[in-house]
Amino acid sequence: MAARRVFLVGFMGCGKSSFGRRLASELRWGLIDTDREIEHRAGMTIPEIFATQGEEAFRTLERQVIDDAAASEGDTVVALGGGAVCREGVMEALAAAGETIYIKMPTARLVGRMSAVGRARRPKIAGMGDAELAAFIEKTLPEREKFYNRANFVLDCGAASDGTLLRMMLQHIGNSNVK
Ligand code: S3P
Repeated sequence: MAARRVFLVGFMGCGKSSFGRRLASELRWGLIDTDREIEHRAGMTIPEIFATQGEEAFRTLERQVIDDAAASEGDTVVALGGGAVCREGVMEALAAAGETIYIKMPTARLVGRMSAVGRARRPKIAGMGDAELAAFIEKTLPEREKFYNRANFVLDCGAASDGTLLRMMLQHIGNSNVK
């Protein structure tokens, strides 16, 4: 049987990595977290890549990691970085390789989920306070949703608990004809 793949997309802080870990463990599938894989290949952290090589170099590495994840062997959950799918063709390539899920979360919840340490690990929002981060999300999300909304399944999170959201994703994966 061909490898089954689920791709988790969405804005920073929506829980792609933590849901990815939990889904992979429930399904007993492999897990690729693109940010961690980029750091592994570069031998440095994401803030270090941005600081020493710039965002473009980061995006180039990210593209290679995504291409490899879309061709992964074995059933795999892939948690993608928030900007990874925000150019033409990526969502389509992922949909051709598996099932894409957009974890759509309200701004206030995204802000609440990202601690100061969590923000510091993300160069695009490092050092931002709550109000500044909320404004950044409100400005950036509409541009990014153009891509996120192309997912096969848009999981509108609202105030549902993480446990409920996990169950909804598992149900969707079980019901969908995951390639
Ligand atoms: C980014 C999101 C981050 C990481 C990098 C850039 C973005 O991933 O890839 O800091 O442009 O939205 P997370 O969405 O996992 O935080």
